[in-house]
Amino acid sequence: MKIVGLIGSLRKAAFTRQMMETLPEIAPEGMQIEMAQIGHLPFYDEDLRVEGEAPADVRALSRKIAAADGLIVGSPEYNRSFPAVIKNAIDWVSKEPEKALMGKPTLIATQSPGQLGGILSNYHLRQVLSVSGAVFITGGEVAITRIGEKVADGRVSDPETRDYLRSHLDKLADLIQRQG
Ligand code: FNR
Repeated sequence: MKIVGLIGSLRKAAFTRQMMETLPEIAPEGMQIEMAQIGHLPFYDEDLRVEGEAPADVRALSRKIAAADGLIVGSPEYNRSFPAVIKNAIDWVSKEPEKALMGKPTLIATQSPGQLGGILSNYHLRQVLSVSGAVFITGGEVAITRIGEKVADGRVSDPETRDYLRSHLDKLADLIQRQG
């Protein structure tokens, strides 16, 4: 089971990165999670297409997501939404011929050092990804509150939060299996 992860914060020490890089360590057996880069993509611009074809980095991302069994989008919350870097990646991928997001089992995971866990970012992502046909796990969200108290050495260290993340990876695996 191959999963692509997108990290919606570019800074090296991002809590989002720490959350996402915890996932391969706690993934259920048989689930491989690989992060894809999105920070280097140009801003969406039709004029960058050459004979209709998007830039090579966009084509590579679209193909990578299309080939994966599932997607995990990890994000902080910026001004009660998700950062532009993710929107840009989604906008590009949504227009590519693979239609990589259509029917794609997807887990959205947000975090915040504050008390709301980026839940508005979480639901904005759900709204935007659903237009392209992404399919989401049901029965709860990953929205980690006060993440600064739950990380150490670049990973989520709090045992309860690791269990919480793990249970949602299980839900993603179930969704992938049910989707066939
Ligand atoms: C924030 N932050 C923030 N936090 C939050 O819970 N809700 C919000 O609406 C915002 N808005 C916001 C806007 C901008 C432009 C920045 C830079 C930050 C704080 C944010 O949660 C905090 O900086 C996190 O550490 C960002 O995530 P990473 O980079 O650590 O993954």
